Amino acid sequence: MPEHIAIIMDGNGRWAKSNGLMKLEGHRRGVEAVRQTVKAAIELEIPHLTLFSFSSENWSRPKKEVSDLIGLLKLFIRRDLSTLHRQGVRVKIIGSVVGVEDDVLVLIADAEKQTENNKNLNLVVAFNYGGRDEIVRAATRIGKKIEAGGLHAEDITVDLMSANMDTAEFPDPDLMIRTSGEQRLSNFLLWQCAYSELVFLDCYWPDFSRSDLEDAIRQYRLRDRRYGGRKDELPS
Ligand code: IPE
Ligand code: IPE
Ligand code: MG
Repeated sequence: MPEHIAIIMDGNGRWAKSNGLMKLEGHRRGVEAVRQTVKAAIELEIPHLTLFSFSSENWSRPKKEVSDLIGLLKLFIRRDLSTLHRQGVRVKIIGSVVGVEDDVLVLIADAEKQTENNKNLNLVVAFNYGGRDEIVRAATRIGKKIEAGGLHAEDITVDLMSANMDTAEFPDPDLMIRTSGEQRLSNFLLWQCAYSELVFLDCYWPDFSRSDLEDAIRQYRLRDRRYGGRKDELPS
């Protein structure tokens, strides 16, 4: 079983369009799919689940859609936090705080604090997140330590970079799922997905169910993870 599953939850807009509904309804149904996925991940005993909820590039969407998406995140934390806590879910938000309103930051900090000792599932929500932005922030942190004299340029290693990412405390994703048929990473977890298995599903995110999650895990289990090495001896 994968230890860590990351999901690019894509296709809310197309789901709404194909059902003759407003985009907001697609995003609302997307939140419902999040609830179902969290429940399924707990039942399947997946230790870490990372969900891409808002990218650093999503600010370029129409103002109304951006405020709808942020409104839904706030509503999700307010409404679902007690359920998540009861389910033993630890909530952790990754991404940049730059440009995020104070009320959102307060909600996030409360959710993290309240659930910090929960052990059933680490739910990592990527909000205002971009992979390149995260790598730059990690490089800046390291640069500051060098400037302060506590570190030398030669000390920079892969492990040090990983330790300065937002995801420092979590293992790299084993399985990365994207819904909606698009086959790209859209700047998600670029550093951490170096050796993740990628599974692209055609369903739109609001239609994603436990059986789609199980289908992706089934595909993952058929993969041969080699990490650049070779398991069997071939004549050379
Ligand atoms: C995913 O659905 C949700 C976010 C990116 C926040 P989209 O809104 O991207 O849906 P499509 O890609 O337009 O169908
Ligand atoms: C990626 O989806 C971001 C999230 C799922 C939050 P997008 O819909 O923003 O990605 P592109 O624009 O199709 O690459
Ligand atoms: Mg999209």
